[in-house]
Amino acid sequence: TRLFIPKDAAALALGAEKVVAAIAAEAKARGLDIEIVRTGSRGMLFLEPLIEVETADGRIGYGPVKARDVASLFDAGLLSGGAHALGVGRVEDHPYLKRQTRLTFARCGIIDPVSLVDYAAHDGWKGLARAIEVGPAETIAEVTKSGLRGRGGAGFPTGVKWKTVADAPADRRYIVCNADEGDSGTFADRMMFEGDPFALIEGMAIAGVAVGATKGYVYCRSEYPHAVKTFNEAIVLARAAGYLGPNILGSGFAFELEMRVGAGAYVCGEETALLDSLEGKRGIVRAKPPLPAHKGLFGRPTVINNVLSLVAVPHILAKGGEFYASFGMGRSRGTMPLQIAGNVRFGGLFETAFGLTLGEIVEDIGGGTRSGRPIRAVQCGGPLGAYLPVSQFDTPFDYEAFSKKDALIGHGGIVVFDDTVDMAQMARFAMEFCAIESCGKCTPCRIGSTRGVETVDRIRAGVKVQENIALLEDLCNTMKFGSLCALGGFAPYPVTSALRHFPEDFAPRHAIAA
Ligand code: NAI
Ligand code: SF4
Repeated sequence: TRLFIPKDAAALALGAEKVVAAIAAEAKARGLDIEIVRTGSRGMLFLEPLIEVETADGRIGYGPVKARDVASLFDAGLLSGGAHALGVGRVEDHPYLKRQTRLTFARCGIIDPVSLVDYAAHDGWKGLARAIEVGPAETIAEVTKSGLRGRGGAGFPTGVKWKTVADAPADRRYIVCNADEGDSGTFADRMMFEGDPFALIEGMAIAGVAVGATKGYVYCRSEYPHAVKTFNEAIVLARAAGYLGPNILGSGFAFELEMRVGAGAYVCGEETALLDSLEGKRGIVRAKPPLPAHKGLFGRPTVINNVLSLVAVPHILAKGGEFYASFGMGRSRGTMPLQIAGNVRFGGLFETAFGLTLGEIVEDIGGGTRSGRPIRAVQCGGPLGAYLPVSQFDTPFDYEAFSKKDALIGHGGIVVFDDTVDMAQMARFAMEFCAIESCGKCTPCRIGSTRGVETVDRIRAGVKVQENIALLEDLCNTMKFGSLCALGGFAPYPVTSALRHFPEDFAPRHAIAA
């Protein structure tokens, strides 16, 4: 009997290794023959560690399982999918999965992430084969047709970016994958590395074929050791099987890949700072132009895409751009892997077409707060994203709809707060975060963020509150329009949204003498 147990970092953090050991020991003691397959996560983090058993009726799940539950699971007939208090039935039929449209994450949690056999059996490499067959121009046309936009947050059309790089005259071009997933509440890139790493290799190889790049780099944050290990293993396997190398699949196209690990600076998620860091320098933001598409890594035209953009590409090539574009709303085509986090009951990865409202996401799917208290605010798009109040829960998840509300969807991270949150404290945190993470290149961000912290502190202390609120708003304006990159430019969003929607939190509570 085959059992599937995730080795995704979230499952490991929740005791998956102990569960594996307990299951192996229990099976041995009972003389039962089992095979344990380690997978990525299905993304239902509230059920981790989720163990699944292969039965004639499909994969039956149990979760969240602790080592102490293992004996009772065997007593209940685990290996034939017997009934148990932790049973969730057929995993495919779980409402959290059933409501999703899984394109990018279709394989995650199902396959052994480092099994080439599994990957190929689940439609792997079909996109790359098609790209090789149709050639660079058609490949770019297909990506353009899909309407795919940059999943790092800015939403720039991927096909246009690729075309710019392909058309830039150069002796050498590069593909760089931005996996410096630093936003609060985000974990989709990590889940992909740990659950379906060949998909990223395939996406990057397709990008290489499309723009004429023979070398790719993945820049991963240092906080993801399991992702680094799994991805490096996958690179070795893919290379040995001919999917990477001087002549991929005998096509005449060459593509090589390497993973580099950052050193913990949030700003290295900004594309030009990332390039500096990749080149071995301190990560400092470069002025644009030149765009990386014209002059990027080592001065050569470079495609820089987020993990989620690149892993969408194999599906687009395999199934066609029109298929991908048939999902979504307005100019936001395809699916977005939402990451529902914070104070929420059903936290996890939820891939869906654009267009669900924020309320549906956090209340229906997320199930409200874990604390059981009412939701007060939701922050989308990382630490520099706006806070949305309940009155804006009718906002559809869409690049344009969010931007109309002065908010951003960013990388799809959604962090829920209950009514105990102090929004003035959160505004202070945004400024403090910016002060700590600022690369220091430009004044509005370097100095403004520190002045921002001090100003919020004065407001919180009840010192000349109205004057200081006006000063804070003015400072936010300067940072928004005067900063060189999105770090200083976006730090004002959480601050001004907190001021606008939760003014009561800025009223003096413990007023002290001015
Ligand atoms: P941007 O709008 O300047 O550029 C977006 C991308 O398109 C870049 O790769 C840029 O080089 C490329 N591009 C722009 N014009 C182009 C052209 N004409 N031809 C070819 N390529 C072109 O945005 P930026 O500064 O790269 O990113 C800001 C965004 O980052 C924000 O919207 C925010 O949502 C997001 N963000 C994401 C975070 C994360 O952890 N994923 C953290 C903080 C911000
Ligand atoms: Fe550096 Fe901040 Fe300026 Fe960005 S906004 S370039 S992080 S100082």
